[in-house]
Amino acid sequence: MNMEPDVFCFSPTGGGEKIARAIRKGLGDGCGKSPCIFVVPVYGGRMPDLAKKAFGNVHATGNNPAVLAVVYGNRAFEGALAELAEFVSERGFNPVAAGAFVCEHSYSTSETPVAAGRPDAEDLKAAEEFGRLAGEKILAGNLMPVNAADLQDEPSPEASVNRFMAFVREFKEQQSAAPRAFLPELDKDRCSGCGICLAVCPATAIRADFSIDASRCVACCACVKKCPSHAWIFMSPFARPLSENFSLRKSPRWIL
Ligand SMILES: Cc1cc2nc3c(=O)[nH]c(=O)nc-3n(C[C@H](O)[C@H](O)[C@H](O)COP(=O)(O)O)c2cc1C
Repeated sequence: MNMEPDVFCFSPTGGGEKIARAIRKGLGDGCGKSPCIFVVPVYGGRMPDLAKKAFGNVHATGNNPAVLAVVYGNRAFEGALAELAEFVSERGFNPVAAGAFVCEHSYSTSETPVAAGRPDAEDLKAAEEFGRLAGEKILAGNLMPVNAADLQDEPSPEASVNRFMAFVREFKEQQSAAPRAFLPELDKDRCSGCGICLAVCPATAIRADFSIDASRCVACCACVKKCPSHAWIFMSPFARPLSENFSLRKSPRWIL
């Protein structure tokens, strides 16, 4: 029987994938208890609907211990981890460990960096340690579920949060007065036509002619970050306020 932990990772821009790999390394062979690892990004403080859809058919085979992680862009993970815990519990898993890790923000650019370069070596070491501690807990037969809602965000400076919230309010007002779609744009001169963007788009929002179906695109930036020719660009209106207000490094945190 294969006792390697199963990994369920939804990671459009690849940060969560790196964290999942490090957790798995730390967790080892799964201690014979068939643990599963779930990793999802935080979108607007929530677990993305697309991740729920991607894991929709996943069910535990018998109260399997689950090691959970959310990755976020150094702003806040809010209720996303608790939502992931609820999601896996409803599918019969037992969330025995839950953590939150910082990865480069999907909207980070060289002009407006947000958690650029993360997860770095320190983050990956921490994720591996989290996996190791979760493995130790499982091996010791301690299958007490965690209350993921107990893990709170590392606070940001109040002034930063207020400035950012003021921006969000103003943005929403502008959008309700004159709605404007913000979508990735393709630089046709750079595009080689390889089609990788179609393959990596988790929302199947890119058509064969490389136009975008606005009703499907969630602006996850998989196309932007994974295009080998850097032909996709997404100028998020949130990039600058995020970069200006959430530059203080946050650390990984978890509960077991
Ligand atoms: C639509 C959207 C919403 C996001 N919302 C948040 C958020 O609320 N808080 C935060 O810190 N980061 C947020 N992020 C950043 C992502 O959580 C972060 O970049 C994450 O590492 C992406 O994971 P991935 O690299 O595995 O795709 C958001 C990103 C996108 C695309």
